[in-house]
Amino acid sequence: MKDEFNEIIKPYLIDEFNELKNINHHGITRYNHSLRVAYYTYKVTKTLHFNYEEATIAALLHDFFSDEVDNEMTIFKLRRHPKYAVENACKYFYLTDLQKDIISTHMFPITFTPPKYLESWTVDIIDDICAIYEKIYSLRKELSAATTFLFILLMSYIK
Ligand SMILES: [Fe+2]
Ligand SMILES: [Fe+2]
Repeated sequence: MKDEFNEIIKPYLIDEFNELKNINHHGITRYNHSLRVAYYTYKVTKTLHFNYEEATIAALLHDFFSDEVDNEMTIFKLRRHPKYAVENACKYFYLTDLQKDIISTHMFPITFTPPKYLESWTVDIIDDICAIYEKIYSLRKELSAATTFLFILLMSYIK
């Protein structure tokens, strides 16, 4: 299963996409977030006999845009970035209508236009689940670092 997934995404891992490795996103890199969303999209859409190849590629590219438009998290940015991602992805790759819909509606209902296809609903939901998981994971890491610091501080007082 993982081999087929890697074959599908391989042509899209161009230098410009690899730059997402330098962008922080939900406490991890946007590259890793995109790969995670793509992988679960692949698994779910293949199991459900949807158009899994197109869905996997669109999921991979759903947050493919430069950091210049994402240096702070505002509601406007949350609304706008799917449009930037479609425009940016179209600079490098041919996208089908299904793929454009997947990328442009992945923030629904924060963006107002609902997804047209089942594949788009799938990516919308998987992206949300991954984002929540990544946020909680990074928060746990921060909390554990803070707890360790407090523990060391407490121990030095006890001495
Ligand atoms: Fe996004
Ligand atoms: Fe995302």
